[in-house]
Amino acid sequence: MQTEFRLEPFSQLNVSALVAYTFEDDPTSSGTVERLPEETRGQLKELQASGELTGKAFEFTTLRRPAGLAAAKLLVVGAGKREKFTQALLRQVAGAAARQLRARGGREMAWVLGAANSAGVSPIVEGVLVADYDADRYRTERAPQKGIDSLLLATGGDQLSVGAEVSLNHGRILGEAQNFSRDLVNEPSNIMTPTKLAERASEMAARFGLQCEVLGPEEIQRLKMGAFWSVAQGSQSEPARLIILRYSPEGAPEQPVIGLIGKGITFDSGGISIKPSENMHEMKTDMAGGATMLGVMQAVAQLKPNVRIIAMIPATENMPSGSAFKPGDVITSMSGKTIEILNTDAEGRLVLADALTYAKQLGCTVLIDAATLTGACMVALGNITTGVFGWNKEWVNRMLAAAEKSGEKMWQLPVDDDYRDLYKSAIADLANTGGRYGGAITAAMFIGEFAGDTPWVHLDIAGTRWANDEKPYRAKGPTGHAVRTLVQLVADASA
Ligand code: BES
Ligand code: MN
Ligand code: ZN
Repeated sequence: MQTEFRLEPFSQLNVSALVAYTFEDDPTSSGTVERLPEETRGQLKELQASGELTGKAFEFTTLRRPAGLAAAKLLVVGAGKREKFTQALLRQVAGAAARQLRARGGREMAWVLGAANSAGVSPIVEGVLVADYDADRYRTERAPQKGIDSLLLATGGDQLSVGAEVSLNHGRILGEAQNFSRDLVNEPSNIMTPTKLAERASEMAARFGLQCEVLGPEEIQRLKMGAFWSVAQGSQSEPARLIILRYSPEGAPEQPVIGLIGKGITFDSGGISIKPSENMHEMKTDMAGGATMLGVMQAVAQLKPNVRIIAMIPATENMPSGSAFKPGDVITSMSGKTIEILNTDAEGRLVLADALTYAKQLGCTVLIDAATLTGACMVALGNITTGVFGWNKEWVNRMLAAAEKSGEKMWQLPVDDDYRDLYKSAIADLANTGGRYGGAITAAMFIGEFAGDTPWVHLDIAGTRWANDEKPYRAKGPTGHAVRTLVQLVADASA
């Protein structure tokens, strides 16, 4: 998608679709509709009188050959109540306009900016990019491909504000990062194998100038990653990969070194504790945590915050086979802690345990993990909100603040010593499950055992990784959730 500023008066902008938004209280002279010529708003008043224009959120009103404009059509999007308008809603309104146009074959979209507002275009560009994404890439009848090729940001004759180009670029980087992450999650597991995920990571790293290292089965075993390996040994055809990306800008402070660790199970069958077949296909998304971290790294490489980051993705399938690990097995993790396997479907915490241990060894001073970890977290928070866990108040609060700023919904769930008894083992240091009740908490705390004293925050994105419904501003399918928040977190930590 091309993006550019256009400085001519709205009346002279010769485009196929001009988009403005408006509020409920006064739909013909609020929002950016206010900036349109008298004659155009006269026409809108007629539509208001007939009840076709109310300004309700995501209401679409189209004027063909609008009076006073050179545009072939004007699309007015309702933005709801003025008091409730936020940056997050602006992003959605821009996205909704894009989806409305592209569904009708539109390829060009011109957006009416607010007065002297060209430095605030980031949410608009991001919203359109995220909206201009569909998950149906394997549909053969998809051609000719729908999509917005060109987004014009129209100032109506105002000069560009300071920071306009930077804001545009910021929106593009964030939007593309989320779509990159969504693409990885969307791929079926026969395509997005651990090998392929590592390839995509190293391509991205080469393109954007990050260091990338990929370890295979021999190295994983040589590092004594017994917990990661216990899961990986079940796949007889797809070798595991440990993907490591490094971003270390020159002159950045020695600390913190932020470790971003993403669960990379490319397919979770449950292993010997096999899952029921209903909805098992959804387990192609069990590498969404890893995809999140790759999206974040793609954005980081372009936004260049002044802070050191190491991303680590333990990638493997979780399969039942003659070589698979079994319930009752006791394994030794890289940290030396022994783990009794009570359920081979609790595999995420195992691969993360060793990844956290290794990330500490590589010098990370803060550990952040994102994982599609538990069905229990989905039961608690639904598809809307990511669960946030951790002992370290400072970093948990940083995460919640970053989520708040970025408009992603995240909510803290507790960790507490009283839960530790639930994952005690009669034979080993730890058991890999803590039972049904409090399942999201005991899973999180299991991972936390391997963080030790290093500040650690865990995001359970089991619910938020995927949307089962379409919204006016985004397709159903992979969401890219948590990318925005983590990019914000890293920016806030930048010296
Ligand atoms: N990947 C699943 C969790 C999951 C479930 C993610 C549904 C997205 C949607 C995870 O590996 C898992 O199987 N967790 C088990 C743990 C249990 C065996 C202790 C679960 O949540 O049932
Ligand atoms: Mn599982
Ligand atoms: Zn899993």
